[in-house]
Amino acid sequence: MRIPLIAGNWKMYKTSSEAIVLAEAVVKALSMPDETQVVVCPPFTALAAVGQIVAGSKIGLGAQDLHWAKEGAYTGEVSAEMLWDIGCRYVIVGHSERRQYFGETNESVNRKSLAALASNLTPIICVGEILFEREAGHAYAVVEAQLKGALSGLTSEQVQGLIFAYEPVWAIGTGKTATPSQAEEMHAHIRKTIALLFGAEIAQGVRILYGGSVKPDNAKELLGRSEIDGALVGGASLQIDSFAAIAKAAKR
Ligand code: PGA
Repeated sequence: MRIPLIAGNWKMYKTSSEAIVLAEAVVKALSMPDETQVVVCPPFTALAAVGQIVAGSKIGLGAQDLHWAKEGAYTGEVSAEMLWDIGCRYVIVGHSERRQYFGETNESVNRKSLAALASNLTPIICVGEILFEREAGHAYAVVEAQLKGALSGLTSEQVQGLIFAYEPVWAIGTGKTATPSQAEEMHAHIRKTIALLFGAEIAQGVRILYGGSVKPDNAKELLGRSEIDGALVGGASLQIDSFAAIAKAAKR
């Protein structure tokens, strides 16, 4: 059985002091013993402070990006080892906003995923089509190409336990969500693609989160689908009430 995971992507919101307040609220609201895993992904500047707050709790810490090199003259970048060192155990890779605004490609997603794995971080690999691609009937092909690119050269052992997020770009921050059936169909397609590449057993073990305008009022319906193993939450993760409500809706 796959343990549900709810990850909050705080994007470029929250100063360090604001992040501390939210992280304390997350620890308080969501540390009760239930099966759901909860991860928060603050901006780089707040990672260390939030890391100290979640340390020793069941809340996990994730970054929103990383560089693929171990170290070097890469001004402005942050390595996997640096993230591990301050308590990160997860890192979002290939978010559509990175693809759209910062030149992220399937190849860089691949290099970053390999770098994350080499430092024992679990990448949360994001895939998803834009509206034009869905309307043109290419959504499945686009997501499949993103997956194949991201996973190129990875071993079955590395793919085991990976986390994916299906985030249709047209649903991010727009208030539109994929219907539970649209999401579930794509999740099944992602799992099938992974099964073809790495075998059915590996595919059954990976978790596939849905992302794109997940809110308390649609969470239960989305998370109730057997192919949807959790959520990557943007806007609604910035307020404790909405984030806690979504995390509670993930209970199986
Ligand atoms: P949203 O963002 O929940 O605000 O749509 C999701 C994401 O970008 O991960």
